[in-house]
Amino acid sequence: MRHFAERAGVSLGTVSNVLNGTAVVREPLRKRVLKAVEFAGYQPSQLARGLRKVKTNLIGMIIPDITNPFFPALVRGAEDVAFANGYRLVLCNTDNDHAKELSHLNELRTFLPAGLLVIPSDASDLTEQAESYRKAGAAVVCVDRLPRAWVGDTVTVANEQGSFEATRYLIELGHRHLATITGALQSTNAQQRLAGFKRATRAAKIIIRPEYIQQTTFDREGGRIKTRLLLSLVPRPTAIVAANDMIALGALEAVRQAGLRCPQDVSIFGFDNLDFAEMTNPSLSSVHQPGYQLGVVAAEMLMDRFAGSLVPPKHETLKTELRVRGSVCPPELAAPRRRRPAKALTRASSSSRKSSARK
Ligand code: RIB
Repeated sequence: MRHFAERAGVSLGTVSNVLNGTAVVREPLRKRVLKAVEFAGYQPSQLARGLRKVKTNLIGMIIPDITNPFFPALVRGAEDVAFANGYRLVLCNTDNDHAKELSHLNELRTFLPAGLLVIPSDASDLTEQAESYRKAGAAVVCVDRLPRAWVGDTVTVANEQGSFEATRYLIELGHRHLATITGALQSTNAQQRLAGFKRATRAAKIIIRPEYIQQTTFDREGGRIKTRLLLSLVPRPTAIVAANDMIALGALEAVRQAGLRCPQDVSIFGFDNLDFAEMTNPSLSSVHQPGYQLGVVAAEMLMDRFAGSLVPPKHETLKTELRVRGSVCPPELAAPRRRRPAKALTRASSSSRKSSARK
């Protein structure tokens, strides 16, 4: 520092104020210091600074599944706010695995982050972990899903209402044989979306057989497997409410693989409204949730805490909206399929027998 002070012709204190942001320095002086620093090729160590202040400018962010396109938008929202306020975001992916989540939480705290944004892997109690962050002076905000007994700031969306509206829409189209594929019911948003489905069917006095409610993980493979199972039921469901778009994507594939048509044979509604919903064939109806905005609001809550806000924990619930597209139609539009002439059928099946014998 002495070297920079001499080169810039300022005091040691001024150099320290510029480099550590500890006081406002007049612009001409600040520029001289930065020029001297740049000349020496010096890069201040955030680690050393963090150790001195017992806090860094890092925000840790725990997300459940980096391969799910829903989460990048959310992270982007949080990152935009963090960056604009001089903070850096560090991402940890849990693969929806609570043990991995605990390991990330324990490790991340040792880097002295200023704050933590957590999207829990499931509803396990994270009170102890959150407390340890707060004791270390870090603010904590929970996003999208909630752990059990959580005390602290939260931002989520209206999961129950979104799913209720999607189900009601299908009922109003005339569907009576409705099925749902839920996400892992250890997650609060999966529980709430199932509750919305049940509320809508109950309100329409539709009795849902237990096998019409299938639970899986929030991914495409889960959607494919559970749809195959639903399609084997008698009567076959005419509509499927999927707990997210990845499940819905798997459902679309399974319907096609079964030789059926969406929406004529099976209507499908997703949840998230990811970009690809407009690109599938047919385009996917979905409950839009504002992923980017979730990240923005969560990071803004952190900024308020950094600025010293001591108000009691805040709970924001963002609205969802239906986006109706080609994957839904009234059940009576299921026109009977034209049967192939018996002769052609026989020929097709015998040739496929031959080709499988050759394999
Ligand atoms: O697609 C992943 C799902 O899990 C989303 O719907 C989101 O809410 C997340 O928790």
